[in-house]
Amino acid sequence: MRTIPWEWYTDPAVLRLEQERIFRSSWQYAAHTGEVPEPGSFVSSRAGHIPVVVVRDRDGRLRAFVNVCRHRGYLLCEGTGRRETLQCPYHAWTYDLDGSLRNAPRAEAEPGFDRDALGLVAVQVDTWGPFVFVNPDLEAPPLAEQLGELPALVADGGVDVGSLEFHLRASAEYEANWKVCAENYLECYHCAVAHPSFSKAIDVAPGTYQLDEHPTFSSQYGPAKNGGGGVYDAAGEVGRGQFHYLFPNTTINVMPGRGNISIGPIVPLAAERTHRSLDYFLAPGADEAWISDYLELDTQVGKEDKVLVERVQQGMRSGMISEGALMPVSERLIAHFERLVVDALGTDA
Ligand code: FES
Ligand SMILES: [Fe+2]
Repeated sequence: MRTIPWEWYTDPAVLRLEQERIFRSSWQYAAHTGEVPEPGSFVSSRAGHIPVVVVRDRDGRLRAFVNVCRHRGYLLCEGTGRRETLQCPYHAWTYDLDGSLRNAPRAEAEPGFDRDALGLVAVQVDTWGPFVFVNPDLEAPPLAEQLGELPALVADGGVDVGSLEFHLRASAEYEANWKVCAENYLECYHCAVAHPSFSKAIDVAPGTYQLDEHPTFSSQYGPAKNGGGGVYDAAGEVGRGQFHYLFPNTTINVMPGRGNISIGPIVPLAAERTHRSLDYFLAPGADEAWISDYLELDTQVGKEDKVLVERVQQGMRSGMISEGALMPVSERLIAHFERLVVDALGTDA
């Protein structure tokens, strides 16, 4: 079994196609509700390459817009904050929290200035527990449809997402195509070789470690090994690790032990450059020592994965080998992911 062409991991034209046919029309994790707690709160984020701002309007409802000023394209909002209106820092065009253009300085001196046609461009926004997702395509099916059985699986695994508290966001950049990062996430064939501490804590043996495909996501399950193998204490209400990949780019991780989840997107910055962030949520009352062991393990795995994906990218770039060999059993979630990519790109890709 062969992989998709390695050219697709280096060619900017393929990334442009992916932006247009994948990221422009799918639900992607953008923020958490703690970042937009009250009317007027906003948080800037992105859906793939598309800058997005999520806003809580005067009625307390979440709205999201392309975070680009309709005047000359300035990025409207940066970071998080709270405002009565959204004012562009470039020429002070001012938008209401519902996206309509309220005021543009000197507009009254411009004959035919069409204020109504120059509101912010809306995108879809919806939530799953504290997790805020956006979809740039207003025609796309609702979030619940893309999530499918995922919320039920997470709940059955012992995690009540509604009760979790946000803890921290970790971010990193990788000199690798976003699909290299995704595919590295989608197999644990490398775990025993490349992640010694993770493999001590989680049973990654082929007979125990489970891989499941779903229409819009895939799941990996690994029980704790020897109570966490001395790496961290895996005792708690969550019996086994769950590692979900919601196509196209959201990873959702639950470690065995106390209630926990980390969730975040894999965002292409360029054909060979990727940004990842993970928002960590924990059940209330977890003790500091546990949190620090848990985060240390995750940070260690992240460091190991960074080396892996960046070296793969260098290997793929040689131009001497056109594609990789896939292990149809151990790497079947990669095959699943690649099928979704191929389907989304269409036959002329
Ligand atoms: S670009 Fe925003 S006001 Fe000019
Ligand atoms: Fe890994």
